[in-house]
Amino acid sequence: MSYLGHEHGDGARDAEETALAGGIVGAAHDGLPESSAEAAGRTERDILMRRPDLEDIPELEPLPPDFALRRARPDEVSALATLLTRAFAVPWDDDLVRRRLSEAPDVEAIYVVAHAGVPVATASARLAPEEHPGSGYLHWVGADPDYQGKGLGRLVVVRVLMHFREAGLRDAVLETQVHNFAALRTYLRLGFVPEYREADDRRRWSRVLPRLLR
Ligand SMILES: CC(C)(COP(=O)(O)OP(=O)(O)OC[C@H]1O[C@@H](n2cnc3c(N)ncnc32)[C@H](O)[C@@H]1OP(=O)(O)O)[C@@H](O)C(=O)NCCC(=O)NCCS
Repeated sequence: MSYLGHEHGDGARDAEETALAGGIVGAAHDGLPESSAEAAGRTERDILMRRPDLEDIPELEPLPPDFALRRARPDEVSALATLLTRAFAVPWDDDLVRRRLSEAPDVEAIYVVAHAGVPVATASARLAPEEHPGSGYLHWVGADPDYQGKGLGRLVVVRVLMHFREAGLRDAVLETQVHNFAALRTYLRLGFVPEYREADDRRRWSRVLPRLLR
């Protein structure tokens, strides 16, 4: 089922790819030390993707009545911890949410899709001017497993791209992992393309792209 007219075709393929995505977490890119939960979830070096401009961002698709796309509220730290724990399958607590998101000086905005008032998908707008001057950095994208595959991850990413455009930034970057097929599909469909930072990156993308096209 899709909330947003976004259907999934091959169930077996999806199951395999969801399994591949399992256990892979977003990494700490903000210079803070990783918690043990974060470090335990790291399985490989991150890959960089870039949307080369912020033009032609898709329209926000309407949501069913019980759903809302909005900024996270200050009283939703615990709700974000629950959501991120479920999305990434590693424990987040309130302190980690504060350090990584709500009180992180480089995070400009945390967007959520809420269902019946409870956040079920999130993505954040971060700036990393030293590493990525002029770019918005798409940060901590996750959807509750009960709500994945319904277009909500795409929706929060679109909202962050709009945020970057409104902020006058040139383009958007993100870091993810090469086996995270659900994330790669989401990003490729929204105009992010691979950027090769190290010689081995071309080979890694050459292995993964044919599988994404199946
Ligand atoms: C990546 C993620 C945010 C995508 O959110 P989402 O709401 O499921 O995204 P969408 O519904 O827009 O689907 C995007 C793609 O995810 C895939 N997908 C995600 N969950 C799926 C599921 N349960 N069943 C089938 N497909 C799924 C689909 O293949 C889809 O690709 P398609 O358009 O080619 O069919 C979500 O899968 C997630 O939270 N993953 C765990 C956390 C994570 O890895 N975050 C990204 C870190 S960089």
